[in-house]
Amino acid sequence: MSKEIKVALVTGGNRGIGYELVKQLAMKNFKVILSSRNPETGHKAAQNLKESNLDVSHVVMDVDNQESIHQAAVEINEQYGRLDVLINNAGVYLEGSKKLVAMDHSILERTMTTNFFGAYHVIRSFIPLMEKQGYGRIINVSSEYGAMSEMSYSGEGAYKLSKLALNGLTRLIAAEIKGDIKINAVDPGWVSSDMGGPSAPRTPRQAAESILWLATVGPEGPNGEFFRDGKQISW
Ligand SMILES: NC(=O)c1ccc[n+]([C@@H]2O[C@H](COP(=O)([O-])OP(=O)(O)OC[C@H]3O[C@@H](n4cnc5c(N)ncnc54)[C@H](OP(=O)(O)O)[C@@H]3O)[C@@H](O)[C@H]2O)c1
Repeated sequence: MSKEIKVALVTGGNRGIGYELVKQLAMKNFKVILSSRNPETGHKAAQNLKESNLDVSHVVMDVDNQESIHQAAVEINEQYGRLDVLINNAGVYLEGSKKLVAMDHSILERTMTTNFFGAYHVIRSFIPLMEKQGYGRIINVSSEYGAMSEMSYSGEGAYKLSKLALNGLTRLIAAEIKGDIKINAVDPGWVSSDMGGPSAPRTPRQAAESILWLATVGPEGPNGEFFRDGKQISW
């Protein structure tokens, strides 16, 4: 494959913000791999984008399942041999109205499994591909709910903790990685998707636009930071 064509992977790319990220990356001439846990919905989403002449392929990857992540990494390595951009977008919001200590503990565990461990295992599996070429841009789709200041207010406990941990992971990995590999976290704002609901003021398109500059930052760009709309926000 030509060195000029950059390859990007988006988790949870079959709907919502992830789908828009795939579309906009492809419109920026990336070769984009749309990953989804569900083979049918992911295939259909990729097919829709291909029909608009966008360079999008599909791979199945359930971020809750390490074997599924490993299989996807093997497939992508064999097919493309490189990965330039990784967007950890897949996420769940399983919260009811109960406080952390009163909720069914499986809500916290499942939320951490997807929103935190999912991103961790995906990064672990794909960073060797980036290290091989000494280049990579990783974006973790976080939330303002993951800011430390949010821990002073009750509510959304499982989701908040998962994004707080994701933010910490972003910083720690930034401190570990070498070469021109950058990892940052972003808050997309309140977005009208299945998760955000219909009253949210931002469209997935606006959210994706506010995220994607991090996919192409140069070697002088930020590393280990947390952004909203291109501005650094506090942890
Ligand atoms: N919407 C907002 O207002 C908002 C605000 C702040 C942050 N965020 C963050 O933005 C990201 C995208 O959210 P969204 O609003 O687009 O949500 P969404 O419409 O609910 O879409 C979530 C996506 O994640 C996928 N997903 C969930 N668990 C997965 C797993 N185990 N493996 C692979 N994919 C999985 C879903 O796949 P299925 O279709 O198979 O379920 C779906 O594609 C999330 O990380 C979310 O926390 C959203």
